[in-house]
Parts: sequence; C-alpha cells; structure tokens
Amino acid sequence: MKVLVIGSGGREHALVWKLAASPHVTELACAPGNAGTSTVFLRSGNPVTNLSIPADSLQALRDHAINHRVDLTVVGPDNPLALGIVDLFQAAGLRIWGPNRKAARFESSKAFSQDFMMRHGIPSARSGVFSDAVEARRFAAELDGRCAVKADGLALGKGVLLTHSVPEAHQAIEDILIRGTFGDAGSRIVIQELLEGMEISLHALCDGKTARLFPTAQDHKRIFDGDQGLNTGGMGAYSPAPFLNDADLERIGKSILDPWLAGCEAEGIDFRGILYPGVMLTKSGPKVLEFNARFGDPETQVYLTRLENDLVELLGASLDGNLHETPLRWSPMPSVCVVIAGAGYPGSGPKGIPIHGLSDLTNRKNLMVFHAGTELRDGRVVTAGGRVLGVTAWGKDLIEARNQAYDACDRICFEGMQFRRDIGAKGLGIRQSDERIR
Ligand code: AMP
Ligand code: GLY
Repeated sequence: MKVLVIGSGGREHALVWKLAASPHVTELACAPGNAGTSTVFLRSGNPVTNLSIPADSLQALRDHAINHRVDLTVVGPDNPLALGIVDLFQAAGLRIWGPNRKAARFESSKAFSQDFMMRHGIPSARSGVFSDAVEARRFAAELDGRCAVKADGLALGKGVLLTHSVPEAHQAIEDILIRGTFGDAGSRIVIQELLEGMEISLHALCDGKTARLFPTAQDHKRIFDGDQGLNTGGMGAYSPAPFLNDADLERIGKSILDPWLAGCEAEGIDFRGILYPGVMLTKSGPKVLEFNARFGDPETQVYLTRLENDLVELLGASLDGNLHETPLRWSPMPSVCVVIAGAGYPGSGPKGIPIHGLSDLTNRKNLMVFHAGTELRDGRVVTAGGRVLGVTAWGKDLIEARNQAYDACDRICFEGMQFRRDIGAKGLGIRQSDERIR
C-alpha cells in the first residue's frame, strides 16, 4: 500500500514512524516532512521520501496522490482539514483519513463547538459567543472578569487570552474583537468562565458511529517549568496521566462522547478522524475547554509509542466504519515526550543552527527522538524553527520513562535550546493509574 502523510511536525514524524512499522505499507512519503521523517525505513528496507509540497497546497497534494496512485493519505495538521482537503481528495475518488470540512468545524470554529456543546448537553464551562463588544463586556462583567476569551477561528494555538479582572477582560475583548489581533479568526469570540483544576487531553478515534477512547495524556502548554510564561504549542506530554482510574476515565469519556456522537448524528456530521477534547477536571466535574479534530502534538508521540495495534488497520477501520469490531490495544508502559525548542520560542528565533548528539541516540532501547522543526542541510541536521525535537521514552514506570527521556535530552546540544525539566512531574507522587491494556 502506498501511503502519504501530510504535515511536518513531531506528530507527523510519529505517524510516519508508526505507519512504517506496518507490513501493509510498501511506499511511504511525507509532505513536506522534516529531517526525521526522511530517516525512517519501512519493514522492506525502503526509505520514507519527503516531498517538497506544503501541507496547505491542497491541489498539489491531490495531484500528487492521483499521479502516484497513493492508496491512503493521512492528514496531521488542522489547517488542511479546515480548508477541506478531505472533501477535495474524496471528490477525486481518493482514500484520505481525517474529518471532512464540515466535521473539522469542531476545531476550526470555537463558536460552533461551544454552541454544539450547549445544544447537546456536553459538560463545558459557562460561556457565550459574541460578535458585539458591548454584549461581550456585559457577559465578562457577569463573570467578574475571570474569563477565557477565545478567537473563533484557527490562530496557530495562540487565540486564547486568560483574564482575572474586568479591565483585563475588557482589554482582551478589545484586542481580539475590535483591534483584530488574530485577524479574521477573531471576528467572533467565545468567552468562557475561567476554570480551575487539572487539565488533561483526551483522544478518541471515530468512524462516524463509534468513538474509541484512548488512555489519558497530559500536555504542558506553558514555556517554563511550573507552568510559567507564555502558552506554546505544547512543551511535553506523558501518558497515562494518573489522575483518573479506568472506571473514571470511562465514565468521563462517556459523559462527553455519548452526547457528542448523538449530536453529530442529529446534525448530519460524519466525523471520521480523531476527536481531541481538552478537558479540565474541576471540583464540580470534568468540563470540555475545546475540541480539536486531529491528533495532539506532542500527545501523538506518547500515544503512538504505546499503541500496539497496526495503525494502517486502525485508520482503515475509522474510514470504513468498522471501529465497533476493532478494540484498541495499549502497552502498559508509560511514555514521556520532552519537547526541545529553539531560542526565542514561542516567538520567532534563529534557524539553521546545527544539532549535535543525535546519532548516538538512534539505537537506544525504549527511546525515539522525534523531529519537528528540523531540516537537512549539506547532510547535517539543523534547526528549522519553533519546536525542534520531541525526545520520547518509555519504561516500566513513569520515573524510568522520564529518566530515560531526560538522559537523552542532556546528550543533545544546539545553541539556544530550551526544554522544561518538569514534564510528567504532576503525574509523580500520585498512585499510578490501575489502567490495564484495553
Ligand atoms: P484552548 O486553545 O481553548 O485549549 O485554550 C488554550 C489553553 O488555555 C488551554 O489549554 C487551557 O490551559 C487554557 N484555557 C482555555 N479555556 C480555559 C478556561 N475556560 N478556563 C481556564 N483555562 C482555560
Ligand atoms: N497539544 C496541543 C495541541 O496539539 O493542540
């Protein structure tokens, strides 16, 4: 089977790595990929090919898939999904995995998602959707200014401002709705009450009728240790996050996924892909902060190093509506991914900096260094911006997995590199979940 993966981040390197392990795959390409994806080999010994087609060049990707008779295309990032890549490929008779444009609205419009949650009784924060600043300010005042003010559309993960007072909330409304800090994405806003609690990531693989819940994971969104500093795309993740036992995870998953599936059916939304709810475990129960319609990054790196199923078969079951007869199987070994970012991140910084120490880590047991912002220049791996690497390790327990990941991080070196030292720390000291292989 010829497979094409779209995207260039750590998530896509992990997808390529897992797909390459499938005996079904005879050719694998990644568009545009990174320095890591081009070093993956298939079981046949053939290498993965990087294609110099950007992830949002929809027509060029479709033409490539037609001309090269690609059997399955797997979409990583949100942007091509929101632009309708799935609809475009399907209209050309191509097989592509990911939600279609209508289904991808769960991520591309926070206002749509929030209204959907309210219509279908999905546990969420108290909230409102506004395009009028006066009404928005009135609602923010009702919440005493303790708000999450969110641009409706995609804003590279940056369109959320958390406020703790009425003046701060007014400023956030002004910035997003009136001054257009996030462009058109902010012509409507969602205002939620500010929730407190432990934040976790849930993922469910869906086939339009069935949603298969993954184990828990926890991302670390802020740039600095102790959840300080600016929000980022995610500085590290681990799975499982031991705050929920099996029974609680199942109950919470059901409380979100049952009404979500019923709502999709009622509204004619055929969702085939990953639904990724960000969830806050509050004192008054779990609440969905947002829906994403794709694999999380860096959650994918920890999930796929634990997943025991053949990924080609799983994605096929998701496409064909066969998930009801396809149970997921997970390694009980916890997995930890520590993201190493370049200087300046989450702002912009220098690129093209040589990365040292990678070759000594290629054959280590229970370790995989996934690349994100890297490229090959004259045969050397150099930085290409943003999040650079996702050092991922797994072990008999979270302590072993973390030690292994941090030992590897300490052997990698490039100018200006930064990473958090506390990935997984919240999960320590708490009884490991009694999660069994499901
Ligand atoms: P989002 O893109 O909607 O997930 O928001 C980005 C981050 O902002 C989340 O990962 C949370 O850490 C935080 N956040 C979002 N909504 C809320 C909320 N209602 N209360 C508290 N924190 C929030
Ligand atoms: N882990 C954050 C994201 O993928 O949006």
